[in-house]
Amino acid sequence: MDIDQFLDLTKRRRSIRRFKTDPVPDEYVEKILEAGRWAMSGANGQPWEFIVVKDPEIREKIAQAKDQSQETSAAIEISRVPEMRQPRYRGLPDIPPEQGFRDAPVLIFVCADPRTAQATVLAQLVDRRWVVDENSTNATYALHLAAAACGLGSQWVTVLEPFEERIKPILGVPPIIRVMNLIPIGYPAYVPKPTYRRDLKEIVHSEQYDMSKYRSHQDVQDFIFKLREVSKQAYPLK
Ligand SMILES: Cc1cc2nc3c(=O)[nH]c(=O)nc-3n(C[C@H](O)[C@H](O)[C@H](O)COP(=O)(O)O)c2cc1C
Repeated sequence: MDIDQFLDLTKRRRSIRRFKTDPVPDEYVEKILEAGRWAMSGANGQPWEFIVVKDPEIREKIAQAKDQSQETSAAIEISRVPEMRQPRYRGLPDIPPEQGFRDAPVLIFVCADPRTAQATVLAQLVDRRWVVDENSTNATYALHLAAAACGLGSQWVTVLEPFEERIKPILGVPPIIRVMNLIPIGYPAYVPKPTYRRDLKEIVHSEQYDMSKYRSHQDVQDFIFKLREVSKQAYPLK
């Protein structure tokens, strides 16, 4: 793979939030997991473990658990000015609940063992949770890229505490192991609308931080409003 093919892959990878029920070949799942295994981690601590769920009954229990765990994020979203809210909290029609992942034939849970934070001195210097979060994020991104390379769609579902509490018993996860995020994988049920990234010239500084590119608080707020406008157009997922 050359650099242009790599860039093409990174741009082709998009968040998919509704899936076809068509099965995903086991060979693909194996390779996606292999990509996660080779992620970077602080002092090579490798906190990650992956739970692969294909059983439709368990998948449905997970989707229900997610349905029941929306209160926390909903409460935060509705306390924000409408322009800042995720589209589904602005009362727009036709917006499916997050559990568009319901139909995804494969769910991969990225779990992390916080005891591995000890592998790096970072654990002494910063919050141990942060070390584990950082490392799990790398593995998660590797899984997403690998899914895209297989022509599959994937979603990054953050596992917040209310959801984690509900799914740990379903998945039989020991108390010390954390469930960091959920990656539903499958064939996309729609073509994602174009997304938006800041221009390279806005985010790259040469030799020193270029203060002409520094954003005021107002600029950052306007940026978030703009993001929300883009994500509003990205829905409904058809
Ligand atoms: C740390 C992190 C948490 C995220 N949490 C969620 C989530 O809970 N649900 C979701 O649908 N997408 C989630 N996403 C995906 C982002 O919304 C998505 O990457 C972003 O809007 C850019 O769109 P793209 O992935 O299509 O390029 C998350 C991404 C990251 C990196």
